Amino acid sequence: MSTDTLQADTLAAIAAAASPEALEAVRVSAMGKSGSVTALLKTLGGMTPEERLVEGPRLNGLREAITAALAARKNELESVALNARLVAERQDMTLPVAPALTGSIHPVSQVMDELAEIFADLGFAVATGPEIEDDWHNFSALNIPETHPARAMHDTFYFPDADAQGRKMLLRTHTSPVQIRTMMTQKPPIRIIAPGRVYRSDSDATHTPMFHQVEGLVIDRGVTLANLRWTLETFIKAFFEVDDVSLRFRPSYFPFTEPSVEVDVGYSSKTGKPAAAGDVDKWLEVLGSGMVHPRVISACGLDPNEYQGFAFGCGIDRLAMLKYGMNDLRPFFDADLRWLKHHGFSAFDVPTLSGGVGA
Ligand code: PHE
Repeated sequence: MSTDTLQADTLAAIAAAASPEALEAVRVSAMGKSGSVTALLKTLGGMTPEERLVEGPRLNGLREAITAALAARKNELESVALNARLVAERQDMTLPVAPALTGSIHPVSQVMDELAEIFADLGFAVATGPEIEDDWHNFSALNIPETHPARAMHDTFYFPDADAQGRKMLLRTHTSPVQIRTMMTQKPPIRIIAPGRVYRSDSDATHTPMFHQVEGLVIDRGVTLANLRWTLETFIKAFFEVDDVSLRFRPSYFPFTEPSVEVDVGYSSKTGKPAAAGDVDKWLEVLGSGMVHPRVISACGLDPNEYQGFAFGCGIDRLAMLKYGMNDLRPFFDADLRWLKHHGFSAFDVPTLSGGVGA
C-alpha cells in the first residue's frame, strides 16, 4: 500500500470513529506496536542513506498528520460526550421537587430560630461558645470548685487527657460557660442569649446524652429580680403565643446564682399544651435562673458592687415538646425520616414576630 493511500485510509477511519473506543482501535491499528504506520517507520532502518533522505520526511509527515488527526478527533468526541451529558443532566428548576426529596427543618432548629427572634426584639444578641470546654469555664468560674457536690449532679463526660496547657477538658454540661466567655470579652451592658448543644451522661424518656439549652445573660447597673421575672414572662408568652400563661417561680439553688429560681410552665394534660390557671393540672420545669452570683461577676474581672445581672438556662428540647405536643424526647435524635416528616417545618416557615413565631 502506498504511503498516500495509507494516510488517506487512516485519516478517513479517524474521521469515521464515532466513539472514544472506536478511535482508540484506529490508533492501535495505525500507531500501535504492530500498527501499519509503525511497520512503515521500521523500514527506515533498512534503507540506504539516499532512500532515507527521501522517505524519512515523508514517513515522519505521515506520522505527524495521523497523530494530529487522532488528537483533534479525540477532542471532538470528548466535547460531544460532554454536551450530551450536560443535556441529559439538565434540571428543570421550575419543576416541583419530588416529595420524597423534600427536607424539613427540625423542631429544635425551628425553636432556636424562634428564640433568637423573640430575644432580638428585646435587645439580646446571640453569643456562642465551644462544646468542648475546659473545667474552669464549665465549673470553677461558675463558683463550682473542684470539691463541690454540684459537679456530681452534672454527670460530666470528661476527656481522658488534659489539653496542651494542662487543662482538664470536658463536653460542656450546660450553656453557662458562655456567660463567663461573654463577661470576659465584653463590657456591660450585656444582653445575650446563647443557644447550643450540651452533654450529660443520662438517658431516659425525658433525657438524652446530648440536648439543647439556651442561656440568657443580662449584666448592667441596677438589674433586679423583677427584671428577670418580666423578661421570662414576656419570653414565655411570646414563645407560646398566649396572652396568659401560668408560671410557677420556685426558690432553688445553683452555685452561680443567688437567689436562684426555677420556673415551671403549667399545662393541661388533656391538650398537652400550656394553659391558663383554671385548666392547669400539670407543671413542666423549663428553666433555671437567678441573679448572677457576685463571685461569678468578680471571677470575670467585673466589680460586683457596680454590676449586677440575671441569668437563665432553658431546655430547648423541652420547650419544643411542650409547644408542638411531643411526649418522648428520644425520637428527636433518631434521624427517622417519618418522624421528621411529621414534626418538621418547611424551610419557608421562617419565624418572625410580625408573622408569628409558631406554626
Ligand atoms: N446551667 C443551669 C443548668 O444547666 C441552668 C441555669 C442557668 C441556672 C443560668 C441559673 C442560671 O441546670
